[in-house]
Amino acid sequence: MNLFLKQLLILLLPLVIKATDSVTYNTCSKASRENDAKCGSYCYQVVKPLLDYARSIKSKEEQFEALQNTIRTQEANLDSLRETISQKDFQLKQQVELSSSYKKNIEFRGNQVHFKDLLIAELLAKMNDKDEELKSLRTQHKDNELIIDNTKQLDLKLSVCKAMSIVSICQGKREGVYVIRVPDMEPFSVYCDTQSAGCGWIVIQRRINGTLSFNRSWQEYKNGFGDPQGEHFLGLEKIHLLTHSQPHELYIYMVDFEGDGSYAHYSNFAIGNESEAYAIKMIGDFTGNTVDSLKHHIGIKFSTPDMDNDFNDGNCGTSFEAGWWFIDCGYCNLNGLYTSENRNKIVWNSWHTKPLRYTQMMIRPKSV
Ligand SMILES: *[C@@H]1O[C@H](CO)[C@@H](O)[C@H](O)[C@H]1NC(C)=O
Ligand SMILES: *[C@@H]1O[C@H](CO)[C@@H](O)[C@H](O)[C@H]1NC(C)=O
Ligand SMILES: *[C@@H]1O[C@H](CO)[C@@H](O)[C@H](O)[C@H]1NC(C)=O
Repeated sequence: MNLFLKQLLILLLPLVIKATDSVTYNTCSKASRENDAKCGSYCYQVVKPLLDYARSIKSKEEQFEALQNTIRTQEANLDSLRETISQKDFQLKQQVELSSSYKKNIEFRGNQVHFKDLLIAELLAKMNDKDEELKSLRTQHKDNELIIDNTKQLDLKLSVCKAMSIVSICQGKREGVYVIRVPDMEPFSVYCDTQSAGCGWIVIQRRINGTLSFNRSWQEYKNGFGDPQGEHFLGLEKIHLLTHSQPHELYIYMVDFEGDGSYAHYSNFAIGNESEAYAIKMIGDFTGNTVDSLKHHIGIKFSTPDMDNDFNDGNCGTSFEAGWWFIDCGYCNLNGLYTSENRNKIVWNSWHTKPLRYTQMMIRPKSV
């Protein structure tokens, strides 16, 4: 295209654009319509490409518009997507928060569990302590039982000691009757002898003048009879108790109807209990100015007219009308009939077979 055409085109371009626009066409000035007429077909040839170009532009604009619409739609979609995403973000955030709170909760629970574990450990320790305490209490209980046992044994010893202090009652005492108190027994009177063989002797049997009968039952020999001041028998149970509580000496003093006297001393005398029939358990060593008649009677039970414990076919207690440690009725009997005659008399055969007028049996604790 030459320069002239270019210039012309620049000149005419506003007109061409106006001509293509139907709306603006009516508002064209009178001058421009005249120009159109002048241009004629010449103008058309020149303008046609321009018109085509304009039309293409319009189409492009339409395309652009459509694209813009599409973009708008897409943007709307995008917005909605963004909205959705933001919502999801929010939800996610919430979830995260929730999970973190769960986590915290779990941590808290974990701490609680740990704390409970500590508590349990503490309780277990306490329980252990209680176990120990219980054990110690049990031992204490056992100790207490032991103490109670010991106390019982001590009580027993004490009762024996009491009996001992009681049997020593004649020690340092003047001649006469004194009351003895022994545990588990009624108080009873004894005669303390200081003249026959020194101090501290307790009289357990005495014959003086035959006022008192010694022809008596088991029960009477067991409990004793007579008056401690005069003729009497202290009683097998008491003699057992005294000689059982501690070692005792035995002293026997005898006088016959001719006035001759003698004595027998035994260093360790004791008799058994009732279930042993008050048998003579021991007599110890003999001393005296007579011969020992009692040695044959060791281990011999007591017999009475109503209690036959002897070795005789009959009953020595009945035939001799007395109670004594009878063997085959033999050797001696200080509880015989009070008689100067030769029948069932009071007798100490190892000395002589004459009847005796006076006898006294005494005991005292060995240590005195
Ligand atoms: C001894 O007692 C019995 C009955 O127990 C009696 O038969 C007897 O006569 C008594 N003897 C004397 C000497 O009293
Ligand atoms: C026998 O002795 C006792 C005590 O010494 C006395 O009380 C009694 O009177 C005496 N009896 C006779 C018959 O002498
Ligand atoms: C009598 O003494 C014997 C021997 O010491 C003893 O075994 C028995 O238990 C005693 N009996 C009574 C009733 O005390």
